[in-house]
Amino acid sequence: MTPKDLTSYLGLAAVYLLSVNVLLGLLMSARYNPWKRWPHRRINLLMLHNWTAYIALGLAVLHPVPLLFVDKPVFGVGDILFPIHSPEQPIINSLGAVTLYLLIFTVITSIYRAEIGRQRWEILHYLTYAVALLFVIHGAATDQHLDNSPMDLLDAEKVGIILCGVVMAAATAVRFRWTARHPKFQPRRIPSSTGTINAND
Ligand code: HEM
Repeated sequence: MTPKDLTSYLGLAAVYLLSVNVLLGLLMSARYNPWKRWPHRRINLLMLHNWTAYIALGLAVLHPVPLLFVDKPVFGVGDILFPIHSPEQPIINSLGAVTLYLLIFTVITSIYRAEIGRQRWEILHYLTYAVALLFVIHGAATDQHLDNSPMDLLDAEKVGIILCGVVMAAATAVRFRWTARHPKFQPRRIPSSTGTINAND
């Protein structure tokens, strides 16, 4: 396996795991209860959501590292951390870097959500939709051969990434329609001395 292959596989694994993570997040925000509904089992959606995020973040951090060991083109540490002048596809690579930094921000703000306050954190957490859009664009548009070959959207890896995007977009539409039609599944706000709190917490 070459360093280029390793970069692709790490990136693909991160995309699939983050897509699962987004679907779990959508289920939680629609108050899906796997005990009352299918599969009628006690499943800790929050724990799965957290761990898929942590593992995906680890994969996403590692994903560009093998590029440092590619003979041609030569990537330096700066081309990975701030790829605006990277040797290949600087714009697409920069989108990847922005995605990674937003992902780090999302995970850190989620760890400190009690301190940030539920309502403020929820607004920050909507950034995850931007993260999802960015990782689909970055994954689908990168040239995995790093040789200026034309974009091949029919390549199996690219089809998989685009399918993740389609599934997430469809699930997001269903989530917002569902919560609009079933207000009882929306987070209930009740007044408190320090503002409003979520009655579902
Ligand atoms: C370990 C870090 C994370 C924690 C603790 C966390 C926690 C949560 C919680 C508690 C919810 C349910 C919100 C509600 O009750 O309405 C949620 C929703 C969601 N999460 Fe996360 N999350 C984390 C990371 C991520 C990441 C990395 C992504 C994707 C890149 C993501 C995507 C989503 C999405 C799309 C929703 C649905 C948002 C909505 O429309 O309300 N989360 N998350």
